[in-house]
Amino acid sequence: MRVNGQKVRSILITSANKGEGKTFFCSNFALTCSQFQQKTLVIDTDFYSPKMSRENLATGAEGLSNVLIGDATLDEAVMPLNEYLDFLPVGVIPPNPLELIKTQGLEDLLKEALEKYEMVIFDCPPVNIFTDARVFASLCDLGILVVSSGKTTEDDILTAKNFLEKSEIKAIGTVLNNVKYNEKKYDYYGY
Ligand SMILES: Nc1ncnc2c1ncn2[C@@H]1O[C@H](COP(=O)(O)OP(=O)(O)OP(=O)(O)O)[C@@H](O)[C@H]1O
Ligand SMILES: [Mg+2]
Repeated sequence: MRVNGQKVRSILITSANKGEGKTFFCSNFALTCSQFQQKTLVIDTDFYSPKMSRENLATGAEGLSNVLIGDATLDEAVMPLNEYLDFLPVGVIPPNPLELIKTQGLEDLLKEALEKYEMVIFDCPPVNIFTDARVFASLCDLGILVVSSGKTTEDDILTAKNFLEKSEIKAIGTVLNNVKYNEKKYDYYGY
């Protein structure tokens, strides 16, 4: 994947608000990358709603927080999901997640991950509610903003875009989720 001629190797997934399909998209996107035989690492960074960790039965398992505080190595903490896809659960929930991810440890972790994986994907909390996604944004090649059709407002999108831009992210893409293809918008005649 390339953006502005540059190869994209680190991506953060976020959305303006809660429940807009970030984790759903992130899981599917990571799986797709692995099906293209790209060695991929997907990281649950959502300390407030660690759904990807729950879905992979990794609640309480070592993960991101443990690696950041030097309690575990990346290799020790990752769970293989398939031949090309590894998963780093969120780990022990710290009292102040934001302080933890602002440490130098995150840059070191990403650097190590990029030596071992072709693609590193972060499932982040909502950017309009928590500051965390902005920290990841400052390190990633691309931010993907998931927009929930009929739910995310234009103001929400603009606020989210501003937050990501202020973090000096290199590029932003959007994904429209929850589109109802079968909805008959102009079904006045009741056929
Ligand atoms: N396109 C879709 N098709 C079917 N189900 C979906 C789709 N997008 C999201 N969902 C479902 O909607 C619910 C909310 O999605 P998800 O957990 O991915 O949102 P989120 O933005 O990650 O939420 P949170 O802010 O709590 O982390 C989940 O049960 C998910 O499986
Ligand atoms: Mg989520």
